[in-house]
Amino acid sequence: MYKHVKRGLWNHLMKNGIEMGLASIIYEVGVASKYVNHAMRTGDLGLAGTSNLYGEDQLALDVLADEIIKDRLDHTGRVRRIISEEQSEIIIFDRARRSGGYAVCYDPLDGSSLVDVNLSVGTIVAIYAGQDPLQDGCRQVGAMYVLYGPRTTLVYCAAGTGVHEFTLNSLGEFVLTRENIRIRPSGKIFSPGGLRSDYLPEHENLVRHLEKSGYKLRYSGGFVPDINQILLKGGGLFMYPATTRAPSGKLRLPFELNPMAYLVTAAGGAATNGRQAILDLECHDLDQRSPIYIGSREEVELAEKILNQQ
Ligand code: F6P
Ligand code: MN
Repeated sequence: MYKHVKRGLWNHLMKNGIEMGLASIIYEVGVASKYVNHAMRTGDLGLAGTSNLYGEDQLALDVLADEIIKDRLDHTGRVRRIISEEQSEIIIFDRARRSGGYAVCYDPLDGSSLVDVNLSVGTIVAIYAGQDPLQDGCRQVGAMYVLYGPRTTLVYCAAGTGVHEFTLNSLGEFVLTRENIRIRPSGKIFSPGGLRSDYLPEHENLVRHLEKSGYKLRYSGGFVPDINQILLKGGGLFMYPATTRAPSGKLRLPFELNPMAYLVTAAGGAATNGRQAILDLECHDLDQRSPIYIGSREEVELAEKILNQQ
């Protein structure tokens, strides 16, 4: 037990010298995720607006996850403004000061449509200094995700001090399982999002090249488990391209792409939209989307090369 506490999330944040406000945001998202996890594993799979067995109104899991995380972020007293993939506007908390502090963008339950078929889903969070949650990705001071799979794991990076994985144990503690995760320059798996018949020719060329070169297909349809696989296996390429139907891609820059790009880049990988680093894109809209190629550096460079061939 004592050994576990020593390897716990809070101790790790303190040992790494993470500023108290930033540390408490990461820690409180961890606390929130235990409730999300519990709801997911014990609740029935009702839809928003329906009632449960007892006739009480029931929230869809993604709406519930949003409420839980929002409350815990407010509880830190260090977050003034948030944006959530479940909300259409910026939310302001009164508890926090009107200057300084942190702003947070989060996707409470990415891939929530996979819950009813018992596939893995996740929570994704980006943290910025100051009051503005719509900042460019390179300005993040921390990012994290929680993966609700066979095990519940939490991966964070704060203030550039490495990428670390924690696993929820039966005592309800997140215990350090991997420290300083690194992505190799090149990997052997690829995760191609989108419908193949909607691919643009340059993206089709890239996918053909990867297939011919012996890359193994690994795609679950959940962004968090797919990125987690590349991060923890130490290499590979996840793609969600621009398509004929969705010329800006599907995934959202503030909630999904920026935090994952921060984590993967901090682990030695890279993330691009095909021309520019994801973290350098100007982020100005809650609903902003972008194509993404993310993972090992050499595969990301290969993607840029093939996508830009005339
Ligand atoms: O954003 C939702 C999401 O489910 C992601 O988790 C996932 O990467 C993507 O959409 C899958 O989209 P598609 O089914 O088009 O490949
Ligand atoms: Mn999402």
